[in-house]
Amino acid sequence: MFLLTARYTLHSAPNPRTPPRSSSVPPAVRALRWDSAARTLRILDQRFLPREVIERELRTLDEVDDAIRSLAVRGAPAIGVAAALGLVASFARMPQVSRAAVQAGIERLATARPTAVNLPWAMAQMQSVVASAPSDGAALLDALAAVAERLLANDEAMCDAIGRHGATLIADGARVLTHCNAGALATTGIGTALAPVYTAVAAGRRVEVVACETRPLLQGSRITAWELSRAGIPVTLCTDGMAASLMQAGRVDLVIVGADRIAANGDVANKIGTYALAVAARHHGIPFYAAAPSSSIDPAAPDGAAIPIEQRAADEVRRVGEQLLAPPDVAVFNPAFDVTPAALVTAIITDRGIERPPFRFAR
Ligand code: MRU
Repeated sequence: MFLLTARYTLHSAPNPRTPPRSSSVPPAVRALRWDSAARTLRILDQRFLPREVIERELRTLDEVDDAIRSLAVRGAPAIGVAAALGLVASFARMPQVSRAAVQAGIERLATARPTAVNLPWAMAQMQSVVASAPSDGAALLDALAAVAERLLANDEAMCDAIGRHGATLIADGARVLTHCNAGALATTGIGTALAPVYTAVAAGRRVEVVACETRPLLQGSRITAWELSRAGIPVTLCTDGMAASLMQAGRVDLVIVGADRIAANGDVANKIGTYALAVAARHHGIPFYAAAPSSSIDPAAPDGAAIPIEQRAADEVRRVGEQLLAPPDVAVFNPAFDVTPAALVTAIITDRGIERPPFRFAR
């Protein structure tokens, strides 16, 4: 369990600077649905958005593992919670639940994707139950379900808190540029980077979003543009290469992105292309914010160099679906994430408040 001892002003005591809670505009979509009584997990399969809205149930460890690896369920907080609930759903369908089998399942899911720390963080909490729960199958499963459901509830609450804190940074009429999808479909709540947008809109402010399309898997155009459109929030799509020019033209007031892992010094790993946005934002004097729950902070990583970057298949760049966009055997770079140095980050918005540099996240 990671404990943050950074200079947050918010702990359990109420903070006078905390904005009053406002009900957010509901994003109208959910990354996953959990039926507590039946212990069933359904995900919105994001590979098919926006063309098709397909929900499907994950019933086995193979299905959960594959859904995370293939980005059917994606976004750092969502994959941590999906792995925890998916583990419970899988074992609920097995004739026997042994500690050894659960342990193996936890180890497998913890490594399904390497960059988002939320995945091993969630699996570490499930692991703590395996060590302490009774060995009996049903009791062990009950204990695992309790932890997974707590992760689900906490993630939703952290999104709301990020929204409340982050909304204080968004003025009426603001134009917010974002990258990838760090909205409802990347979490189990109202998102991280988009949570302040939803909350500001619910408070009556007019907010426009510029969504970068996010090559190669197009989470910005396929998911963010779709999610915001369904919520009735004005969104304009741009290709990744247009962002700096929009900043130069004065069409962006602030940048808010999500994070897959934040190192102790405040370096931020997020979707590939984030670093370029931070460089451009700094050049144009535009504030650059990362928004993430405390579960995305990894105090064990002293800086961004310690964060593993996922390398994905070359064909994700060479093709869109079946359509070939490049010579079929051309060499390809395809890191899924990059690291933005803390020096380029104006502030980090978490569920605990707004942290400004110098960042120091400790155990
Ligand atoms: O590869 P993805 O789609 O899982 O990448 C997602 C991102 O990079 C998000 O910005 C990040 O996970 C934060 S989600 C709240």
